[in-house]
Amino acid sequence: MAHRIAVIAGDGIGQEVMPEGLRVLKAAAQRFAIDLEFTTFDFGNCDYYLEHGKMMPDDWFEQLKDFDALFYGAVGWPEKVPDHISLWGSLIQFRRCFDQYVNLRPCKLMPGIKSPLAGRQPGDIDFYVVRENTEGEYSSIGGKMFEGTEREVVIQETVMSRTGVDRVLKYAFDLAKTRPRKKLTSATKSNGISITMPYWDERVQEMAKQYPDIDVDKFHIDILTANFVLHPDWFDVVVGSNLFGDILSDLGPACTGTIGIAPSANINPEGKFPSLFEPVHGSAPDIAGKGIANPIGQIWSGAMMLEHLGYKEAGDAMVSAIEAILAEGDSSVLTGDIGGQGTTRTLGEAIAKRLGE
Ligand code: NAD
Ligand code: IPM
Ligand code: MN
Repeated sequence: MAHRIAVIAGDGIGQEVMPEGLRVLKAAAQRFAIDLEFTTFDFGNCDYYLEHGKMMPDDWFEQLKDFDALFYGAVGWPEKVPDHISLWGSLIQFRRCFDQYVNLRPCKLMPGIKSPLAGRQPGDIDFYVVRENTEGEYSSIGGKMFEGTEREVVIQETVMSRTGVDRVLKYAFDLAKTRPRKKLTSATKSNGISITMPYWDERVQEMAKQYPDIDVDKFHIDILTANFVLHPDWFDVVVGSNLFGDILSDLGPACTGTIGIAPSANINPEGKFPSLFEPVHGSAPDIAGKGIANPIGQIWSGAMMLEHLGYKEAGDAMVSAIEAILAEGDSSVLTGDIGGQGTTRTLGEAIAKRLGE
């Protein structure tokens, strides 16, 4: 039976990297005899908002809930729509309403890519950021008072529920169990944030009792960011709150040379709702329309989607194809962020051909 995939390209370079993501997915599907059926939706972008006054139709949940997965580009065009409106009207709704409480973001230094960190080789940087994805600092609880006056007050609460914290920690511990180093690092800030972050630490300690074979450590987020740069080889699975995970999952890929290759899986582990696969990067208005965006973040997200759907071998083959093209290092194929003169298309095409297109 066909796996039904909803495709939403979004804004800016989302529109440019999505065709390459689909092209490579189709090549992999052909090679491994996987039946994928793609349905494209033209909502969830800022032009839709300008036309309709909202980012998505009122029945978006009904339209999308029965898909097997969502394949997403990037959203946001601050000159057209303020970011908090476009993102809270699309991506953040998906994560919350489809209960995609894990945001899994691999950071891996790939062959052929030069890390900005001196002397780092492939193998030195290879870890996962596991980001809590439905609560934490991204809460809708708060408000404004005395707006527009000198007494103006704005408040936004951080939300940590026991269920919400424990379930993402469990995912991270389980992931660490599958890794050779069996190491888990928790991102905290319990020295300065005196209620929610000590609570996070307590839950980590509690959960650790059930995983005696996992080596657990924690760092405050300030020194953790420093250690990402100074000692990226220390990390294996790094778990953090929504905001800390967001920051770490741009910093980690930057240490691997470019955020243009970083993928992510927004997962509802129970499979009650579709999971969503998207690059870590945004819509990059500064390079949009030029055809030079790196499509690997989108393609690798497609690989994570295939693995999620049960096709690990096909997902691995996609990642191997990416690695092979990067290792070849043909600068006429590679995009500018990784030192080439190629385009979104030349890079997507090379990876698709590697898979037998
Ligand atoms: P961004 O990730 O869009 O861009 C940051 C920088 O990285 C830019 O210089 C950009 O050119 C570069 N870059 C990003 N992706 C690249 C790629 N594939 N290849 C080469 N270079 C790449 O972040 P931003 O500038 O903070 O945000 C721009 C818009 O995207 C905003 O509206 C923001 O809210 C939105 N955004 C959306 C998502 C998402 O949809 N998941 C993620 C991040 C930001
Ligand atoms: C990401 C993005 C989003 C986030 C923004 C665009 C709301 O930065 O997916 O990392 O903060 O989660
Ligand atoms: Mn981010």
